[in-house]
Amino acid sequence: MIPKETVERIFDTARIDEVVGEFVSLKKRGSSMIGLCPFHNEKTPSFNVSPARGIYKCFGCGKGGNSVNFIMEHEHITYPEALKWLAKKYNIEIAEEEQSSEQVAKDNERESLFLVSAFAQKHFTKNLHETEEGKAIGLSYFQERGFRPDIIEKFQLGFSPDTWRDLTDAAIAAGYKLEYMVKAGLTIQVEDNSAPSPSERAGVRYFDRFKGRVIFPVHNASGRVIAFGGRTLKTDKKIAKYINSPETDIYHKSNVLYGLYFAKKQIIAEDVCYLVEGYTDVTSMHQAGIENVVASSGTSLTVEQIRLIRRYTNNITILYDGDPAGIKASFRGIDLILEEGMNVRVLLFPDNDDPDSYSKKVSSEELKQFIKENTKDFIRFKTELLSLDVGNDPIKKAGLIRDIVESIALIPDAITRSVFVKDCSRILDIEEQTLLNELNKFRKNNYNKKLSGEARANVVAPTEGFVEDESKVGNLSKGLTTNFNTPKERNIIRILLLFGSTKIEVEHLDEKEQPVKVETTVAELIVNELVVDNINLNHVVFQKIFTEFVSGIEKEIIPEISFFTNHPDESVRIVATDILTSPHYIHDWEKEYFMSNGEKYIASSTSPYELSDWEKHSIFVTVEEQVIKRSAIDAVYSLKLAHTEKIINDINGEIKDATSHDDVLILMAKNIRLLQAKKYFANQLGIVVIR
Ligand code: CTP
Ligand code: MN
Repeated sequence: MIPKETVERIFDTARIDEVVGEFVSLKKRGSSMIGLCPFHNEKTPSFNVSPARGIYKCFGCGKGGNSVNFIMEHEHITYPEALKWLAKKYNIEIAEEEQSSEQVAKDNERESLFLVSAFAQKHFTKNLHETEEGKAIGLSYFQERGFRPDIIEKFQLGFSPDTWRDLTDAAIAAGYKLEYMVKAGLTIQVEDNSAPSPSERAGVRYFDRFKGRVIFPVHNASGRVIAFGGRTLKTDKKIAKYINSPETDIYHKSNVLYGLYFAKKQIIAEDVCYLVEGYTDVTSMHQAGIENVVASSGTSLTVEQIRLIRRYTNNITILYDGDPAGIKASFRGIDLILEEGMNVRVLLFPDNDDPDSYSKKVSSEELKQFIKENTKDFIRFKTELLSLDVGNDPIKKAGLIRDIVESIALIPDAITRSVFVKDCSRILDIEEQTLLNELNKFRKNNYNKKLSGEARANVVAPTEGFVEDESKVGNLSKGLTTNFNTPKERNIIRILLLFGSTKIEVEHLDEKEQPVKVETTVAELIVNELVVDNINLNHVVFQKIFTEFVSGIEKEIIPEISFFTNHPDESVRIVATDILTSPHYIHDWEKEYFMSNGEKYIASSTSPYELSDWEKHSIFVTVEEQVIKRSAIDAVYSLKLAHTEKIINDINGEIKDATSHDDVLILMAKNIRLLQAKKYFANQLGIVVIR
């Protein structure tokens, strides 16, 4: 039991912003602070901290509470454990008895695993510094490799002698249960029917997993030891260089980054995280004074690890070996990081060097300078590497372009994507439009394969039928799959966004039925045409955007692109940016659409940009600008045509079901007017109605 006064003191001392700030990068916003929620995966911050009230609240997932609640939730620990955690942070002393073996046993299992891991770490460290074997073999190994004493201490490095049960026996003698040693992965249990020793059950044998190795403890984000990596001191190639803890209740490899606990403050401060391959790379970078560094040790980089980094920064720099394995790993890393919407830069170390070996060859200043000068954005990195074996071979060059564009296509943010397309176009000296075409192909495929549930609900794929399972789709896209007008509506929104404020002349009839020319804007033309016929857009997000134009025009302000790309409604932002950076998409698609509906329509004469040979128009937007009035009218009429078609179909159904002759006549009269309207719209569009 922790005394009541101590509990009160902890509550008084623990400032919510400081406690949360240990794990989350917070930015000031008014009187409160805001950051990315550590309890659910998000890209825009909805996690609020109010220092004045001492509480946090996530408006995304709903989690909230005070400092103690935060630590309980975040570290998955009990109330008394959270109090102890905070007491430690603020150097508040808690008068408590030593852990007895009974108490150890009573604690819940996870806690027991933490405890045996902490014990093992201390034991390994003691071995390194206090036993003859440890000093002669382990410590001298570290010293020979140039590990400084303060670094050995900071990372709590240790040593496990080459005997069978050094750790296991020590743990049992100290009152820890064998069961937890096994569950923590420290002790290995094997069936063996030959001569059990006194402390072993017959038929079972136990031994230390890490025997005969130097030890790198792995800490979680709050600094508790959860696993170990053991490096052999033998040069025998048949022995694994490293042995790592297995998955346990407190250690899930894919969710852990080596060094994060020691790096997080500096990651926030520098707003970048260096990602290296191994334990020794992390420790050596620290030794050189670079502390914002983590390693995905013992596993290849995972999405979860990237998300862990995203709590502290949006920028990752990959620092890998320049060998083929390092290059391959960096390519994989680049794509994973881009896909998470983060910025990635890369630095490969020269021949046969990794951050560890390189940092030992040069001074700390030289290392920092080297990193500064050689870090490349991912396009330049890929281009330079891949173009080495491309030479002048056009086929290989095409492959290179595809490779780079494939990476760009993974970036979720459309604006970022377009920036990279521009870069790529400049570096490779290739038309932007060519790259965009290629990019859209990849995006089209990715839409089908990769859209997450969240994105599926918000973004409309440019092709219909991309939603395989409607039950998985959120509210936003309800009804969209059956909405055959989505591409047409999308085109209208596209024109509004790109050309809304473009001035055009239209003809009106005055009171005397004389045609007069009036200057207006594309937005006004489209809005008037649709409002006059009472046409709403079926797609929820398109309608939101359209409504902004309607109310804008009422106030005589045509909203600009930035208004939508910065819109408070996320779905509007996503859809607008997506449309803006894929101008070709809808048209390419519509061509197919018209063609695949050939039984209804045949395109006879077409406007110059619409159904003609796309590849010829390398600078599509310029072409479209010249014919924007035509383009806007086509977009509107094409939607009106679709609406008319639908009403005609509905009426045909009603006619079939009609019970009185009068009803049939009325419906047929309506139908005739609609058929005339249909013919009119079709004519305007250059479409011949053949049915
Ligand atoms: N690794 C592993 N198992 C192995 C080899 C490597 O888990 N058999 C992991 C370790 O986390 C290691 C990282 O991969 O730190 C990078 O491997 P490597 O570059 O071979 O090791 P270094 O960390 O560079 O170790 P050293 O400098 O001692 O060679
Ligand atoms: Mn190394």
